[in-house]
Amino acid sequence: MQTRTDEIAERIYRLSTCVPDAAPGGFTFNQFLVDADEPLLFHTGARRMFALVSAAVARIVPLARLRWIAFGHVESDECGAMNDFLAAAPHAQVAHGAIGCMVSLNDLCDRPPRSLADGEVIELGGRRIRHIDTPHVPHNWEARLIFEETTKTLFCGDLFTHAGDGPAVTSEDIVGSALAAEAMFHATALSTLTAPTIRRLAALEPQTLAVMHGSSTRTRCGESLLRLADAYEAMIRQ
Ligand SMILES: [Fe+2]
Ligand SMILES: [Fe+2]
Repeated sequence: MQTRTDEIAERIYRLSTCVPDAAPGGFTFNQFLVDADEPLLFHTGARRMFALVSAAVARIVPLARLRWIAFGHVESDECGAMNDFLAAAPHAQVAHGAIGCMVSLNDLCDRPPRSLADGEVIELGGRRIRHIDTPHVPHNWEARLIFEETTKTLFCGDLFTHAGDGPAVTSEDIVGSALAAEAMFHATALSTLTAPTIRRLAALEPQTLAVMHGSSTRTRCGESLLRLADAYEAMIRQ
């Protein structure tokens, strides 16, 4: 396996590793590095991917400079390697929402995490990361996402998950392929919170959607979020 690196927005890098057997056409596991005075990594990848992902990070910023480790929720692809990164990056700290810290991360992290309130911003120096609580969206009580305000990049985590090893950034529609993957994996927790939470993300008017599994996009971002919300609402009604 190889990890491919692409700059998807100014000084925001997508690190992508395709696992061929995980889905028809392969399945990508993507991490995102926000390069700033205080660099932030969103998703660590699984523990077994640490060698690949940390080498890809180190080609952009020395691991000793990594300051923040963030992810959407507690699963191995999101945060499996967080303690390996904490060991390799002595100034790094996990940052997550209050629920995630209370329920899991105060215990799981080898150094204490920083607990964030809904809407709280971390200034990276040149980049601003807003923490957004999204409980149960796409799944897990502690779920959250982040929005980088200067480039208007929404780090979507598992939202828009789709199979295949497409380009780093696509201008093709990603809603149809996301719904096809949803029908295959049933990964999203369908609840009364799903559609309103995704519509709240659309109201941020993102200009880039950084997708954890599949291609990112800079095309029709808000509209795609609204269509995704409508599709989930229709599933819930059924
Ligand atoms: Fe997930
Ligand atoms: Fe994921």
